[in-house]
Amino acid sequence: MQEIRIGLVGAGWMGKDHSVSIANALMLFGPDMGKPVYEIVADVNEANARQACEKLGYRRWTTDWMELVQDPAVDLVDICTPNHLHYVVAKAALENNKHIFCEKPLSISAAESKELAELAARRNVVNYVGFNNLLNPATAYIRSLIQAGRLGQIVRFTGTYDQDMLLDPQLPITWRHINKYSGSGALGDLGSHLFSISQALMGDITAVNAVQRTVIKERPKTAGSAEMVPVENDDVIQILAEYKNGAIGTLGTSRIATGRKNYLQFEIQGTLGSVHYNLEKMMEVNVYFKSDDPADRGYRTVLLNPEHGGYGTFFGAGGIAISFNDMKVLEFHELFAAVLKGEPYLSDFEFGYHVDRTIGACIESARSGQWVRIEN
Ligand SMILES: NC(=O)c1ccc[n+]([C@@H]2O[C@H](COP(=O)([O-])OP(=O)(O)OC[C@H]3O[C@@H](n4cnc5c(N)ncnc54)[C@H](O)[C@@H]3O)[C@@H](O)[C@H]2O)c1
Repeated sequence: MQEIRIGLVGAGWMGKDHSVSIANALMLFGPDMGKPVYEIVADVNEANARQACEKLGYRRWTTDWMELVQDPAVDLVDICTPNHLHYVVAKAALENNKHIFCEKPLSISAAESKELAELAARRNVVNYVGFNNLLNPATAYIRSLIQAGRLGQIVRFTGTYDQDMLLDPQLPITWRHINKYSGSGALGDLGSHLFSISQALMGDITAVNAVQRTVIKERPKTAGSAEMVPVENDDVIQILAEYKNGAIGTLGTSRIATGRKNYLQFEIQGTLGSVHYNLEKMMEVNVYFKSDDPADRGYRTVLLNPEHGGYGTFFGAGGIAISFNDMKVLEFHELFAAVLKGEPYLSDFEFGYHVDRTIGACIESARSGQWVRIEN
């Protein structure tokens, strides 16, 4: 079995999640997938790095990510750091001819992502961005409906990604609230997922008009501290969009959306049919076809089943619940197939750049109060 030796940078939430998902992918897909080797982990927090060795099974650890990126025993650099480090780590990894999995968003600016995409195009390495929702069997199903013309001409996309994870004003400041670390607020963190779905299903956005608000303007420096630190970026943002395919849309995201836990939902309306999906009810794709008998016409629910790309990896029968981590499992299978067999994948650095230039345009529009056109 061919080995892929993994160097993990950042052993926080996603670092752990990736390591678990890679192990699960191997169990589900078997030796044909290739053999992951947990070679080395880098985390600036020594305790996190040590724990990743003890719990997740990495052979070695370091606090210096550059040492990992330059290590000849590493084939794949898996970037799970805060956003601002994606650019420097990915650039160094490309320069060292490593395959890369980079968590979303690709970087904190369109300029950085463009540079990475251009550099990646000149290197013969896999350059993958972690937009896991693209691997959701629901996305595959919706994409197939669009491609088969079942929805007719696409007219409109409406979507939000709302969570109330940061609703409590007593939660301390984190890297997600400071632009030099995150690039933007809810927009880059949650909105990038929504934009990735929009990009994959609708194609490029050509113009945006955005409004945003920072509702919780400062947060404690640390938990329980009386010292307050300003929040620099959007808690909530709402965007009007025009698409290259002629459709229009509204997209929005909030990290303080009272009552919403993981409300990534969108509707695509076409002249022949429409689709609505909500990740909180991951198994349910709601579809409406104008071709149905008029007496029966109405939105109906299709439960995910083995007909929908990727679902059959987990279950042979439909309607049995899959989860967030299962999207990650499918991502790592796709990544390994790209590395070992040269198989195609959608979410490369060029794709990540297209998402980030849309995010950049939204930031510019919210600042200027003007429509911003995106060069295509
Ligand atoms: N795909 C998804 O659904 C999803 C979900 C959550 C987070 N993310 C993305 O994953 C990335 C990490 O987010 P997280 O929630 O895991 O963050 P986290 O804060 O839980 O973990 C980040 C880790 O990086 C480490 N780190 C910080 N600076 C470092 C450095 N210089 N060198 C090495 N390690 C360093 C930290 O010590 C920490 O262990 C972000 O880009 C985020 O947008 C994606």
